[in-house]
Amino acid sequence: MKDKLKILEDKKAEALIGGGEKRIDAQHDKGKLTARERIHFLMDEGSFEELGMLVTHRSTNFGLDKQKFLGDGVVTGYGTIDGRLVYVYAQDFTVMGGSLAEAHAEKICKIMDMAMKNGAPIIGLNDSGGARIQEGVVSLGGYADIFYRNTRASGVVPQLSAIMGPCAGGAVYSPALTDFIMMVENTSYMFVTGPNVVKTVTHEEVTAEELGGASTHASKSGVAHFTYANEIELINNLKRLLSYMPQNCEEEAPAMNYQSGDEIRAELNNIIPENANQPYDIHEVINGIIDRESFHEVHKEYAENIVCGFARLAGRSIGIVANQPAFLAGVLDNHASNKAARFVRFCDSFNIPLLVLEDVPGFLPGTDQEWNGIINNGAKLLYAFSEATVPRITIITRKAYGGAYDVMNSKHIGADLNYAWPTAEIAVMGAKGAAEIIFRKEIKEAKDSEAKWKEKEAEYADLFAHPYNAAARGYVDEVIEPSSSREKLIKAFKMLENKVDVLPKKKHGNIPL
Ligand code: HXC
Repeated sequence: MKDKLKILEDKKAEALIGGGEKRIDAQHDKGKLTARERIHFLMDEGSFEELGMLVTHRSTNFGLDKQKFLGDGVVTGYGTIDGRLVYVYAQDFTVMGGSLAEAHAEKICKIMDMAMKNGAPIIGLNDSGGARIQEGVVSLGGYADIFYRNTRASGVVPQLSAIMGPCAGGAVYSPALTDFIMMVENTSYMFVTGPNVVKTVTHEEVTAEELGGASTHASKSGVAHFTYANEIELINNLKRLLSYMPQNCEEEAPAMNYQSGDEIRAELNNIIPENANQPYDIHEVINGIIDRESFHEVHKEYAENIVCGFARLAGRSIGIVANQPAFLAGVLDNHASNKAARFVRFCDSFNIPLLVLEDVPGFLPGTDQEWNGIINNGAKLLYAFSEATVPRITIITRKAYGGAYDVMNSKHIGADLNYAWPTAEIAVMGAKGAAEIIFRKEIKEAKDSEAKWKEKEAEYADLFAHPYNAAARGYVDEVIEPSSSREKLIKAFKMLENKVDVLPKKKHGNIPL
């Protein structure tokens, strides 16, 4: 028995060392942790159970039969985070650059299948040189096996991808199929074709960081939802993000302890400026409504004209979509529409109620917007809200103009409740533009055109720049004092707790992609 135990012990020790001390040192020198160190910091202490530690590849190509590493470059298993079950895989860059081939892919697929059957999130810690070149087509097959599972798992269990090193070629499509992508600044990158291929094909000179580093994907492409200065910061925030989500689509997100007593927030009465054209920061409104310090913003640096994120209200998880008047006046454009639509879809998939804070002057005009598909992209947001069956509440803080009024979770597209602050302006367009169109002839023929225009603008504003026409129609359920918003929302979401709304029977809808 002793001999047998020794064999097992030796094998485990061999697996734990991955690609060897030298490569581990090289990993550390780059400012990166190893796969096992990452798992150590991610999971509750002592909870991780590794599966497939002794798996090896079966290839003999290019001398691979003499180059076998136990575990085949990926650590897989299950454990808990804050006491909740999760499945995790972490690619080990010290083993053949974390490259993915047949056995490596099989290990990932195995835990994905378990996660689906047992209804728990899947976390991927990616750090890989891509398809293992020596293994050829089986590497490509392995990727496709994972893509297929990512798609099948979408909307069933949350899937989170951390990019902690290279992620190139078709490898990018697994994270892209998951719900959230997190990247580490300066040590991670994602691209379909790297700088060398780019140079050959388009003659552009670009560094890996510029082409697909964390800040590029956070601000330009929108591929990354979160970026962090280092791996520990990423891991801590991954745990926080997970705390807002349920285990699967059949469950609710966990509720946190909540002490009642600060429902009335007087500061909300002083945020909207006297002048309707002056900006203010919607974060002040968000923070004035939610449980203190509970906002977890998604896509912070991308399409800043719309703010999306998770928060807690009386201890319960909610998703917030809010126009940001402090950036491009909170206008809706292509990027903002895509960003918000994707967030709404996530929340609806996982039973997270939605709160919309609306202050939107309309859609951004121009050739750039039209040629890049604002019709399709705006429709995505419309579709996402219309199809969402979770409890949905809107507060119009100021402007609700034009088509954007309809799109931003109006009652007409299924919002359960729609509140307005007394500062709300709900109309087809702003008073100045409206006066110019309706009274063009009168303004032109007047002795003092400017004065006439002002007079007509005031007339239009009196008629429409307030919430009371919409309230008279019932499009707004109640005009509320801003300071009471939190109290109203806590009661309203509680009232909607057991909402049942069933979509018509269909295979699936055809969202305007
Ligand atoms: C096999 C690989 C590998 C790969 C790296 N290695 N990538 N082995 N297949 N794809 C090995 C190296 O041989 C080396 O082995 C070790 O990993 C570390 O690599 P280095 O090059 O020394 O590290 P570094 O300088 O940090 O550079 C990392 C890298 C580079 C930028 C990722 O290794 C690289 O460019 N690799 C090739 C990337 C690539 O072209 N992949 C295929 C993409 S196409 P030793 O023994 O020295 O430690 C693709 C298609 C997927 O992925 C399609 C899915 C549909």
